[in-house]
Amino acid sequence: MEILEKENLGTPEQAADPLRRNILLCGFMGCGKSTVGKKLSKLTGRPFVDMDRYIEKQQGKTIAAIFAESGEEAFRKMETQAVRELAQKSGLILALGGGTVLREENCRILRESGILFLLDVPFPALKERLKNDTTRPLLQRPDREEAMQRLFLERMPLYRKAADQVVPAGAPCAVVAQRILEFLNAEMP
Ligand code: S3P
Repeated sequence: MEILEKENLGTPEQAADPLRRNILLCGFMGCGKSTVGKKLSKLTGRPFVDMDRYIEKQQGKTIAAIFAESGEEAFRKMETQAVRELAQKSGLILALGGGTVLREENCRILRESGILFLLDVPFPALKERLKNDTTRPLLQRPDREEAMQRLFLERMPLYRKAADQVVPAGAPCAVVAQRILEFLNAEMP
């Protein structure tokens, strides 16, 4: 399925051009990938894609419904398929899901398609941001806080290993977007 077909998102050849490399945002649930991505899209004029929304559109269901009806493993397969499709595009700002870079295969494909930023938010801030969340299947459990902490401790080293750049991201999203932009401007004068 080709949701992005109508937009001019470039070819794989263009993706080799540093100016057309995708800008990829990863990190724990609630770290601001989507909000920062939208800000960056406004600042740069690049198209923004949220991978969870992309999968939801393709499947015609919410992430919660996919988990409930088909299970996490099925969702992870859809995620890898979405990674393959989106990595073919160039010049995108792409907000990944919180689990996307945990699969080695996804990570390899994504790093070839662009520059991967980790939005690094301290755990207490994430806990506060997510305390009333009703949309993320992994958090809908009575021991939410303990489960989140376990996942956070497990995942942070993997995010750090995957990322090209770690961005301190406890600040407001506009500030975080500006930090990324400054880094990109320094890298790609
Ligand atoms: C997940 C994070 C979610 C979504 C799915 C699984 C995860 O994305 O992909 O619920 O494994 O951390 P966000 O990080 O955008 O919430």
